[in-house]
Amino acid sequence: MGYLWSLVFPTLFLFLFSLLFSSSTIIKAHQCHGTESNALLQFKESFVITKSASYNQVSYPKTVSWMPSIDCCSWDGIECHGVTGHVIGINLSSSQLYGSIDANSSLFSLVHLQSLDLSDNNFNHSQLPTKIVATQHIHSKKFSLVLANNQNLNGLIPDFQSRSLVNQLVIFDTNFSGRIPTSIGNLTSLNWLTIAQCNFQGSIPSSFGNLNQLVHLNLKSSGLTIGTFPLFFMNLTRLSFLSLEGCNLIGEIPSWIMNLTSLDYLNLKSNTFYGEFPHSLFRMDNLTSLFLRFNSLQGKLELGLFLKMRRLSFLDLGYNKLSLLNEKGSFNATLPPLEVLGLEQCNLTGGIPTWIMNLTGLQRLGLQENHLQGEIPHSLFSLENLHTLSLSSNSLEGEIDNDMLLKLKMLSYLSLSDNKLSLLPGKGSSNGTLPPLEVVELDSCNLVEFPSFLQDLDQLAFLGLSNNDFKTVVPNWIWEKKSLQSLSISGSSLTGEISPLICNLKSLVLLDLAYNNLNGTIPSCLGSSSQSLQIMMLQGNKLFGHLPQTYVMGSALKMIDVTDNNLQGQLPRELVNCRMLEFLDVSYNAINDSFPYWLGSLPELKVIGLRFNEFHGIINCPNICTFPKLHILDLSHNKFSGNLTPEMIMNLKSMTTSNISQLQYEDSIVFFGGKNWFTHVSYSFTMSNKGVVTDYEQIQKIFYCMVAIDISSNRISGEIPSVLGDLKSLVLLNMSNNLFIGDIPSSFGKLSNLEALDLSLNGLSGKIPQKLAQLTFLEFFNVSFNKLSGPIPENKQFSTFEGNSFVGNQGLCGIQLKKKCGDSSWSPPTVFDNDHDSGSITEFDWKIILIGYGGGVVTGLALGNAFGLDILAWLKNKKLLCFSYPF
Ligand SMILES: *[C@@H]1O[C@H](CO)[C@@H](O)[C@H](O)[C@H]1NC(C)=O
Ligand SMILES: *[C@@H]1O[C@H](CO)[C@@H](O)[C@H](O)[C@H]1NC(C)=O
Ligand SMILES: *[C@@H]1O[C@H](CO)[C@@H](O)[C@H](O)[C@H]1NC(C)=O
Ligand SMILES: *[C@@H]1O[C@H](CO)[C@@H](O)[C@H](O)[C@H]1NC(C)=O
Ligand SMILES: *[C@@H]1O[C@H](CO)[C@@H](O)[C@H](O)[C@H]1NC(C)=O
Ligand SMILES: *[C@@H]1O[C@H](CO)[C@@H](O)[C@H](O)[C@H]1NC(C)=O
Ligand SMILES: *[C@@H]1O[C@H](CO)[C@@H](O)[C@H](O)[C@H]1NC(C)=O
Ligand SMILES: *[C@@H]1O[C@H](CO)[C@@H](O)[C@H](O)[C@H]1NC(C)=O
Ligand SMILES: *[C@@H]1O[C@H](CO)[C@@H](O)[C@H](O)[C@H]1NC(C)=O
Repeated sequence: MGYLWSLVFPTLFLFLFSLLFSSSTIIKAHQCHGTESNALLQFKESFVITKSASYNQVSYPKTVSWMPSIDCCSWDGIECHGVTGHVIGINLSSSQLYGSIDANSSLFSLVHLQSLDLSDNNFNHSQLPTKIVATQHIHSKKFSLVLANNQNLNGLIPDFQSRSLVNQLVIFDTNFSGRIPTSIGNLTSLNWLTIAQCNFQGSIPSSFGNLNQLVHLNLKSSGLTIGTFPLFFMNLTRLSFLSLEGCNLIGEIPSWIMNLTSLDYLNLKSNTFYGEFPHSLFRMDNLTSLFLRFNSLQGKLELGLFLKMRRLSFLDLGYNKLSLLNEKGSFNATLPPLEVLGLEQCNLTGGIPTWIMNLTGLQRLGLQENHLQGEIPHSLFSLENLHTLSLSSNSLEGEIDNDMLLKLKMLSYLSLSDNKLSLLPGKGSSNGTLPPLEVVELDSCNLVEFPSFLQDLDQLAFLGLSNNDFKTVVPNWIWEKKSLQSLSISGSSLTGEISPLICNLKSLVLLDLAYNNLNGTIPSCLGSSSQSLQIMMLQGNKLFGHLPQTYVMGSALKMIDVTDNNLQGQLPRELVNCRMLEFLDVSYNAINDSFPYWLGSLPELKVIGLRFNEFHGIINCPNICTFPKLHILDLSHNKFSGNLTPEMIMNLKSMTTSNISQLQYEDSIVFFGGKNWFTHVSYSFTMSNKGVVTDYEQIQKIFYCMVAIDISSNRISGEIPSVLGDLKSLVLLNMSNNLFIGDIPSSFGKLSNLEALDLSLNGLSGKIPQKLAQLTFLEFFNVSFNKLSGPIPENKQFSTFEGNSFVGNQGLCGIQLKKKCGDSSWSPPTVFDNDHDSGSITEFDWKIILIGYGGGVVTGLALGNAFGLDILAWLKNKKLLCFSYPF
C-alpha cells in the first residue's frame, strides 16, 4: 500500500503546494539581483532536462524560461520579494531535472530564500545538504522546504540546534533515512510537517510536544519503529490533519484523543491498535475523515453512533475485529454527508442497511466480507455518485441484470464475487455511456456466458470471472482488451485452446486460467512478448507440448504454475532469463529432463516443484550453484538416481539459517487503477478462501516458516549425507521410498525446526539416533520399512508416535511396537540386502502408512494426509489469494 501512496499523494501534495505558491503575489516591479540571477543560471546549468526525471504527467521544464536576458523575477518557478527584489521562493517541482545536487550548489547562496520546492525530479541519488538549507535560512521570516516524490534523493533531517522559523517541512517519498532528530522540537513555528514515505528509523521524538503550532502532521509510513500512541501529542491542540498511517503503533487509542478538538482528518490506518473501540471518538464532532482500517480494534458497536457524527464524510473501519450492529428499523437522525463508507469485515449481519440508500453523495461503499443476506435493494443502483462498490463475500441473493449495474454511471470498481447472486445478461438495451469500469470482479456469480457489457469497457484493467460455468472457449474480444492487467478465469469450465491472441495483452501482469479444460499448447509469447507478466497460473488443465522456449531477458515472471497438465520435453533452459522468478511448479506433467541445477543461478527462486514427472539422473550441480533463496524443493516421484552428495546439500545455503524469520516468504504485487482502487495480489497463497480469515495469521506463519525438501519416491541410493543436519531451517524432510542405506545421521538432531521426517521405505540400518529425541517440534516421524534395529528412543515426543511409524524394521523394539527391548526375541540388525528394491513397495503399503498420519501434523494444523502426498499442493490449497482493496 505504501507504493500506492507514492503515486497518489505526491500529486496531491504538488497540487496543494502549487496552490500555496500561487497564492503569494509575484511582484515584478523590482529587477532581480544580478548575483542571484547568476546563481540560478549556474544551478540551471548543473542539470540536464529529461522527461523521465519527473513522475507527474503534467511536468514541464521550468528552467527553460530562465534566460539571462529576462528579469529572473519573471522566470518560471521564481518568486521575488516585492520590495527588496530578492529571490524568496523557488518552485522547481516536476521540472524534469536530472543531475546531482551538493553542498557547493549555487542554490545555497540565495540567502533570502523562504521557500524551496524540489519535488519530483531525479537527483541521481545525491545527498541533499539539508543542513546547509536549514542553517542558512534560520533567520528568515519563514521558511518552507518541500521535497516530495524524490526517491532518488538521499538525505538526513538536519539537526536544528537553534530555534528557527521554518514553518513548513515536507519530506515525502524520498530516500531520506536516519533518525528524526530531537532538535526538530526547536522548530516551534512549524505549522505543516510531513515526514512520510521515507526510510527513517527510531521513534517519534517526544520533542514533538513542543510543536504546538502544528496544524498538519503527516508521519505516514515513515519507517519508524514500534511504539505506542505518543502522549505528547496531547499538546498539539491546533492539529486539524493527523496521519499516523502505517507508523507501527501498537496499543490502545487513548481516550484523550478527543481533546484534539480541531481535528478534522484522523488517519490511524494500518497500525496495530487493539482494545475496545474508543468511544471518545464519537465526541469528536468536527471530524470529517476517520480512517481506522487494518487495526485490531474490538467491540460491538451500533452503526448509529457513527451516523451521529454530523460532519463525517469519510468513514473507514474495515478489517478490524469489530462487530457492527445494523439497527433494525429506519434511522431517524439526519445522516452525515458520507462519501466513503468502508465497513469490510465488520461482522455485519442482516440485510444491507437501508439508510445507505439515502447517502446520495456516496462514492465508495465497501461491505465485502460480512454476513449480509437478502437481496440487494434496487435503490442501491440509484446512488449515482458511486465509483466503488464492493459487496463480495457475503450471502446476498437474487438476480441482478447487467442493465441495473450500468445505471451507476461513475462506477469504476465493482466486486460482487462470492455471494449467492445470479447475474443475468440484461436486455442489453444500454444505449447511453457505459460506466468507466476498471475493475470487475464477478467470481462465483453463476455466470454461464461472458457478460456482454464487458466487451465495451475500454479501460478494463482487472477482470475476475473465476468459478463460473462457461463451458465455452474464451471469447476473442477478451484478448482485445489491451488495458487488462489481471485476468482470472479459473475453475470456470473453459474449453479449447489459449488463443495466441493473448499476445495482444501487453500490459498483463497476472494470468490465471487454472482448473479449466483448456487444451493445446502454451502460446510462446507468454514467455517472450510480454515484459509485464509476473504471474502465470495454468495449472489443472490439459495443456500439452513444451513449456515455451522463449523466455527473454527482462522477463518479469515471478511465478509459473503449470502443474497437472500434459506437458512434455525438457524444461526450457531459457528460464534462466527470468531473473525475477520466485516460484516454479511443473509438478504432475511428463517433463523428461535431468536435474535443473542451472536454476540455481536464479537469485530470487524460492520454490521448485518437479513432483510426478520423468526427471532422472543424479541430483547435483556440475559446477558451483547456489540456490540463494530456495525454500521448498520437491523432486518427489521422479526417476532421480545416484547418490545425494554433501556438495549438493551445501548448495542449499538458504536452508542453513536457524532463524526462520529471515526467510520471509510473502510477496505481493500491486496493481494500480485510476484514482479509485488498487488491487493487491498476494501470491503467498496462504488462504484457502477469500473471506475466511480465521486461521489466516497462523497459516501465514506456517508458510513463512515452511522450508521443505521432498525427494521421496525416486531411486536415490547411498548413504544420507550427514551435512543434511546443517539445513537448520528445515521443517519437512521426506526421503522415503528410495534406496538409502547406512545409518540415520545423528546430525539430524540439529534440525531444531523439523516437524516432519519421513525416512520410510529405504534400506537404512543401525539404531535410531538418540539425538533425534531432541527434536521437540517433531510431530510426524516415519522410519517404517527399513532395516533399523535397537530401541526406539524413549522420550515424550517419541511416545506420541504410533507403531505405524516403526513397523517393518525387524530389529526395532519399544512400546510402540509392543516389543520389549532386551527380550530374547530381539534380533541383531539385519545385514542390508542388496536385492532390496524399495520400488517394489506397493501403493497399498503407502496407504497403510498414511493412515498413521492421523491429525495434527505441522504445528497443530490439519495437514492430515496431505503432507505425505503433496506439500506444495497443500500450501497452495489450490487457490491464489487475491485481495482487492478499493480505497
Ligand atoms: C534545540 O534542540 C536541542 C535538542 O533537543 C536542545 O538541546 C537545544 O537546547 C534546543 N535549542 C533551543 C534554542 O531550543
Ligand atoms: C507541551 O508544551 C509545553 C509548552 O507549550 C511544554 O512545556 C511541554 O513540555 C509540552 N508537553 C509535552 C508532553 O511535550
Ligand atoms: C481532555 O478534556 C477534558 C475536558 O474537555 C478534560 O477533563 C481532560 O482532563 C482532558 N484530558 C487530557 C488528557 O488533557
Ligand atoms: C469544533 O471546532 C470548533 C472550532 O475549532 C471548536 O470550538 C469546537 O469545540 C469543536 N468541537 C468539538 C466537539 O471538538
Ligand atoms: C459476529 O456477530 C455474531 C452475531 O451477531 C456474534 O455471535 C459473533 O460473536 C460476532 N463475531 C465477532 C468476531 O465479534
Ligand atoms: C424515529 O421516528 C419515529 C416516528 O417519527 C419515532 O416514533 C421514533 O421514536 C424515532 N426513533 C428515534 C430513535 O428517534
Ligand atoms: C431515506 O429516504 C426515504 C425516502 O427518500 C425517507 O423516507 C427516509 O426518511 C430517509 N431516511 C433517512 C434516515 O434520511
Ligand atoms: C435508452 O435511451 C432511451 C431514450 O433516450 C431511454 O428511454 C431508455 O431508458 C434508454 N435505455 C437505457 C437502458 O438506458
Ligand atoms: C481440445 O478441446 C476441444 C473441445 O474442448 C476439442 O474439440 C479438441 O479436439 C481438443 N483438441 C485436442 C488437440 O485435444
